[in-house]
Amino acid sequence: VAGIAHEINNPLTGILLFSSMISKDEKLDPRHKSDLETVIRETERCAKIVRGLLEFSRESVPQKKWTSLNAVMMAALGLIKNQALFQNITIATDLSPDVPKIPADPNQLEQVFINILLNASHAMPGGGTLGIVTGYAEDRNYALVKISDTGHGIPAENLRKIFDPFFTTKENSGTGLGLSVSYGIVNNHGGTIEVESAVGEGTTFAIKLPIGNELKETIAVQE
Ligand SMILES: Nc1ncnc2c1ncn2[C@@H]1O[C@H](COP(=O)(O)OP(=O)(O)O)[C@@H](O)[C@H]1O
Ligand SMILES: [Mg+2]
Repeated sequence: VAGIAHEINNPLTGILLFSSMISKDEKLDPRHKSDLETVIRETERCAKIVRGLLEFSRESVPQKKWTSLNAVMMAALGLIKNQALFQNITIATDLSPDVPKIPADPNQLEQVFINILLNASHAMPGGGTLGIVTGYAEDRNYALVKISDTGHGIPAENLRKIFDPFFTTKENSGTGLGLSVSYGIVNNHGGTIEVESAVGEGTTFAIKLPIGNELKETIAVQE
């Protein structure tokens, strides 16, 4: 995938360069200017997708170490909570101090949490409540992270598509890669990611990650 993405990236850079040059040409017929701007905008969108693909491929092999889920969640929140998107959003956290460290790639998990937190904020443009809970799953071999929002929800017909690469309902701003990348990361950790949603009420993502057996995994996992 990385190879293909690079292959696509080179000609895209050429298209962007030349179309930007033409758009700045004073002799350009004004009638063509807005068309050309569309070309540039759509090319930039392609470039964004390609960057997403590069990330997707880079992140396929987790670098596991004993990781505190709460610390990763706080780091993810710290990075995004001051953005304008979160201005009218109340953040309610309930992070259980008992969750043990789990064998995981903290950078990858942070990416998953950021993707889901940003989606939650996008679903609540007029404000709302973002709920974050960590703890044990019913099966105590798993840690559980729940991220819920009081946003617009996901219609039933979209629920089975949201983890597909490139599925997005965000016309110009979405790449549709956030959840598919997140799904891949959680899957690579031996975990699961589930969603419940009610239109007009909100959405909850539940991520379960294996706690791991310290005795068994100390050898396989870097401290
Ligand atoms: N918390 C949420 N509330 C409502 N819809 C959501 C939520 N999270 C994801 N979605 C839906 O899933 C789609 C795919 O999400 P994602 O893969 O992150 O791509 P993107 O955010 O670029 O659209 C979104 O476009 C949106 O329709
Ligand atoms: Mg997203």
